[in-house]
Amino acid sequence: MAHDSTNLSPLAACKSSGLRGHLRVPGDKSISHRALIFGALARGDTTIHGLLESEDVLNTAKAMAAFGASVRKDEADVWHVTGLGTGSLLEPANVLDFGNSGTGARLVMGVAGAHAFATTFMGDASLSSRPMARVLNPLRQMGVEVLSRSGDRLPLTIKGADPAQPITYRVPMASAQVKSCVLLAGLNMAGTTTVIEPVKTRDHTEKMLRGFGATLGEEINDEGETVLTIEGLQELTAQDVIVPGDPSSAAFPIVAALITPGSELVLEDILLNETRTGLITTLLEMGADITIENERNSGGETIGDIRVRSSALKGVTVPAERAPSMIDEYPVLAVAASFAQGETRMEGLEELRVKESDRLAAVAAGLEANGVTFEEGRDYLVVKGGAAVAGGGRVITHLDHRIAMSFLVLGLGCEKPVTVDDAGIINTSFPGFADLMEALGATFE
Ligand code: S3P
Repeated sequence: MAHDSTNLSPLAACKSSGLRGHLRVPGDKSISHRALIFGALARGDTTIHGLLESEDVLNTAKAMAAFGASVRKDEADVWHVTGLGTGSLLEPANVLDFGNSGTGARLVMGVAGAHAFATTFMGDASLSSRPMARVLNPLRQMGVEVLSRSGDRLPLTIKGADPAQPITYRVPMASAQVKSCVLLAGLNMAGTTTVIEPVKTRDHTEKMLRGFGATLGEEINDEGETVLTIEGLQELTAQDVIVPGDPSSAAFPIVAALITPGSELVLEDILLNETRTGLITTLLEMGADITIENERNSGGETIGDIRVRSSALKGVTVPAERAPSMIDEYPVLAVAASFAQGETRMEGLEELRVKESDRLAAVAAGLEANGVTFEEGRDYLVVKGGAAVAGGGRVITHLDHRIAMSFLVLGLGCEKPVTVDDAGIINTSFPGFADLMEALGATFE
């Protein structure tokens, strides 16, 4: 059942110190969604080790089963997906509910748009308020029919064209979801689809396409843009996928350790793909004591262990170009910045306005409620750190898991407890977050 605003579970975080231990965080969310989708498009039995079993990802698993793939978990917690082949999915018998997940909904729209049948998408209140035109517009150019609520919001139904028309598409905003939607549509229709990406975003779809045996053209044009070319209806071969720890989830214990005195954590097997490590780069610039150990390759991705110790942080300017590599980490960076000496300036944040909540506004409200000085602009945030953070505020999460976790982390460093109105939403990406943090020494009540 989708999490909604009628079953809130508040949680408060209290001043803590000495977070210590070795830990693993759940599997990467982006890779987990894609492993299920690619498994459903490949022939044969794909196995997935370490799948993130969160509400978002389980909704994608249900969707792929609704398209006719066999999706199951075995006794050893390994997931098995037996696919139908590219361009060969079956019409779902019912509405697909993507809950809170923009990634699930937008990537699957790409797949469904290349199939000549109707698929209906719905989600929770957060997802139903998020813009879908960014994926529906390229799909319309391919001949897909869309019936949506005004403003191209969910719920909506798409009917794939027969035959769908491959296109050349320049992605107008820095979005891996839009890039992936168009590539997945191109994979499932005859002809050559081209995606031009002016700003590089996470490349898990490209890596997984190649990992499943597809040929993907990739070159840099004269403007410095990445040009991706995919020939449709290539056969994918089932794979054994190992999902590394999610760096966007690791961000919460990392910042918690930095701001609580006497802490030292080692986070094992974390994805270190360079399209995802902007937060680590930024924290190092702020003076964080972070070291990467045991760096290695696992299933085509760089992974490693992250050792982090409490640190005296200083404010920095985070350039707009870094935003795509840390787009989900700004809320928790704002928390780190609250404990840093001086100003931290974050630029190029326009995409934060259309995440699970208007994250810029939600972060600003949370900082305000807890006595942190800041300046919020249309696409920037300046946090003025240095003073002890009072805390004592109640933070509205707006069905946004990262707002909930960020302000629980803030509370670990504050004089007075910080309450988030709903910790239940954390299950969309990080089941077991509170228990894991408590096992390391954090105090919640
Ligand atoms: C994701 C891409 C990002 C990110 C989201 C996951 C993905 O969204 O915020 O959590 O898996 O492709 P955008 O592509 O919309 O920036």
